Amino acid sequence: MTIPTQFTPPRLGLANLPTPLQLLTRLQEARPGPRIWVKRDDLTGCALSGNKIRKLEFSLAQALEEGCDTIITCGGLQSNHCRATALLCAQLGLKCHLLLRGEKPEHADGNLLLDQLAGAQISAYPAKQFQAQLPQLLAQWQQYYADRGRRAFIIPTGASDAVGVWGYFSACAELADDFRHHDIRPRHIICATGSGGTQAGLTAGAHYYLAGSRVWGVNVCDDEAWFLNKVAQDLHDWQHRYDLDVALDDLQVSVIDGYVGPGYALADEKVYETIADLAATEGLILDPVYTGKAFHALLEERDNGRFGDDGDIVFVHTGGIFGVFPHRQHFTSLGG
Ligand SMILES: Cc1ncc(COP(=O)(O)O)c(C=O)c1O
Repeated sequence: MTIPTQFTPPRLGLANLPTPLQLLTRLQEARPGPRIWVKRDDLTGCALSGNKIRKLEFSLAQALEEGCDTIITCGGLQSNHCRATALLCAQLGLKCHLLLRGEKPEHADGNLLLDQLAGAQISAYPAKQFQAQLPQLLAQWQQYYADRGRRAFIIPTGASDAVGVWGYFSACAELADDFRHHDIRPRHIICATGSGGTQAGLTAGAHYYLAGSRVWGVNVCDDEAWFLNKVAQDLHDWQHRYDLDVALDDLQVSVIDGYVGPGYALADEKVYETIADLAATEGLILDPVYTGKAFHALLEERDNGRFGDDGDIVFVHTGGIFGVFPHRQHFTSLGG
């Protein structure tokens, strides 16, 4: 796979990089097996934490390059992506308009509260309408701004598109440095998958920078078939848009299905237990929507032998801390 080295897509320096790669030693003592390292992308910023910033470095650069003064994006009421976009827009002096799925509660919590603090305009739609009409809603609002002399740039769900692929493609160059620094050759890299862009970038980047490492996405909604298709589509769009010399057939897209539980943004008891255990053992905070499910899957699959008996595993911690608070009722037994 040849990525032309002279080619650099527009990019803004918004994240605190490189993030640390941390070995979970205390967890290892409590639960032996192949070692687990955590790429701490929950530390890409403070309120701006998480995986979305790596993608938005490219998406927002593209928006500025196209002369846009307004960003429209979309997601669930507690979307980490929308929160990151709102805060970055405030930082860059761009107007931010969020189209959110669900009914706005009387008192905002978690990411929604941060969206409001960042000054984002919020339009909330009932789930059915959102699902059925999202492309039209995005286009209508873009037109609304055009009619008022503004230029609005649409970032799709999770910034998971051809532009966003660069975020985790380039994160793999950082991981290659991490692996050299720690003198490790992990065979498995695992992330939570919600809209597919993180997995798409990692899959392409691992092929290019991390020979011997296989990327697995743990889907937190939908199913394996849906994400095999979505990740392949993002990679295809990426290759096409930038005219890259990439043999897409050489890229292995791997999904670990079976951990969605009761549904998107709903978790079963074992996930809450995993979150509490990791916080108490390693001081690491996972969330019930993405990283808690994915890390729970990693531990289960490690015990079941999916990753072999030895070697190193890397978990990409994609953030999501503010998603914990709206689930506070599941942690009431702690602290006794
Ligand atoms: C904390 C967190 N982890 C993982 C993901 C999944 O990333 P992606 O949307 O790129 O699949 C998301 C967003 O969807 C997220 O907010």
